[in-house]
Amino acid sequence: VTLGLDLGTSGVKVVALARDGQTLAQTTHAYPLLTPQPGWTEQRPEDWAAATVAALREVAGQLQAAGHTPLALGLGGQMHGAVFLGAQGEPLRPAPLWNDQRTAAAVEEIEAKVPRHDLIARTGNRAVTGFQLPKLLWLRQAEPETFARTRQVLLPKDYLGYLLTGQMHTEASDASGVGALSLQSKTWDQGVLDALGLSADLFPPVIDSWAVSGHLLPEMAAQTGLPAGLPVVAGGGDNAAAGIALGLSSLRPQIGSVSLGTSGVLFVPLQEPTPDPEGRVHLFAHADGGFNLLGVTLSAAGALQWFRDRLAPDTDFGTLLDEAARVPSGADGLTFLPFLAGERSPHMRPDLRASWTGLTLAHGRGHLVRALLEGTAFALADAYEVMRPLSGVTSLLATGGGARSDLWLGLVGGALGLEVRRTTSEPGAAEGAAMLAMPAAGLYASVQDVVVALAPDSVGVEPVGTVDAHAAYRTERERVLGGSAGR
Ligand code: XUL
Repeated sequence: VTLGLDLGTSGVKVVALARDGQTLAQTTHAYPLLTPQPGWTEQRPEDWAAATVAALREVAGQLQAAGHTPLALGLGGQMHGAVFLGAQGEPLRPAPLWNDQRTAAAVEEIEAKVPRHDLIARTGNRAVTGFQLPKLLWLRQAEPETFARTRQVLLPKDYLGYLLTGQMHTEASDASGVGALSLQSKTWDQGVLDALGLSADLFPPVIDSWAVSGHLLPEMAAQTGLPAGLPVVAGGGDNAAAGIALGLSSLRPQIGSVSLGTSGVLFVPLQEPTPDPEGRVHLFAHADGGFNLLGVTLSAAGALQWFRDRLAPDTDFGTLLDEAARVPSGADGLTFLPFLAGERSPHMRPDLRASWTGLTLAHGRGHLVRALLEGTAFALADAYEVMRPLSGVTSLLATGGGARSDLWLGLVGGALGLEVRRTTSEPGAAEGAAMLAMPAAGLYASVQDVVVALAPDSVGVEPVGTVDAHAAYRTERERVLGGSAGR
């Protein structure tokens, strides 16, 4: 039995998996999201720690009652956050998160000191608002006393690893979301850090995602009920860990995933680290030793959630989706741009805004929803357009709340020109982290063996054709992209 942990944005999930992938125990413990200023999102590392200890204790109890012995624990969680630690390893302030927007000036500072194409060639990515590196520059500028006391900066899940084992490490899938990792060598890029006046000592050593980063400290064993000395495996960022759980391997780059959650996420495995030359999608290390492209559209199922909550609060999602299914493709001339929260991939434009265009007296609620579903699919297609020349992907495994809708998955398949498949089980980052711990537990010889053995079954979904609607979306998107300033 191995344990896996996903330090999410709303809570921490812990699962225990048998060697055959069966779930033997699981729990989730929540913590608050702090928004002290507009555009700021933070969490207290102390809250993460308390929830994690409670969740581990609960799962340890369930396992003990059933007579199972945990052999290793893998870490997974939200990417990009910054835990600033002082000389005693104590958190110096709440941690800004992946979706924090305070770093606009820091992103400009990076672009001024490291030319965009140089940064992309070195790290696979342009400077991105949410990444960890600009958070450090923000701290230096906005809270210089705290910056002066900062000895180490850790990613969220790596802070938990430190608490559990006393060792500070990271691994390449999460480290590549800092914005300063050389993807060729999987070590911190000295040239980038020098240009920004940052010491490489701030960052922990990078080890393999499946490597043991330390062993459970006796005091943490006492608090959690897990065995002292339990190997803790470095693990992966949540997208990479979820990719492992879905069976996505850089050795099988033809299978990727699409997640219709709050945001829409396209994950495409790669054998070689080939970035988009303009950095319009992210290039990260995958947790299996290879690489992946990641495209993130900021409004997917979140757009439908917003519509339901604000405009149809008494209606369930099924009714809205049925109404949309009765409207013809193209929504009788109605077009939706889904930029309710600005956009990340491929436009990298936080300033973009959403719209319906082409409204007439003949349109009703079903048309609004149909256009919304089509628009979110076309936004994913925009991100995929940038990936297409770099990737050999032919089919996508669908996950996330929106994946329950055949219509929505069909629209995504039609818009991207890829086969979309629904998995029969829906394992996520916690399961992937438990799988990453299986080699260290001696249950499999390698991560590749785990991925092949535990890949979920899937069934294909019929694509829905929308050629005219897609053309109308492109026209409208070009009008909006051309018409407002920004980056
Ligand atoms: C990836 C990203 C998110 C977080 C969410 O670039 O920002 O998917 O990892 O937890």
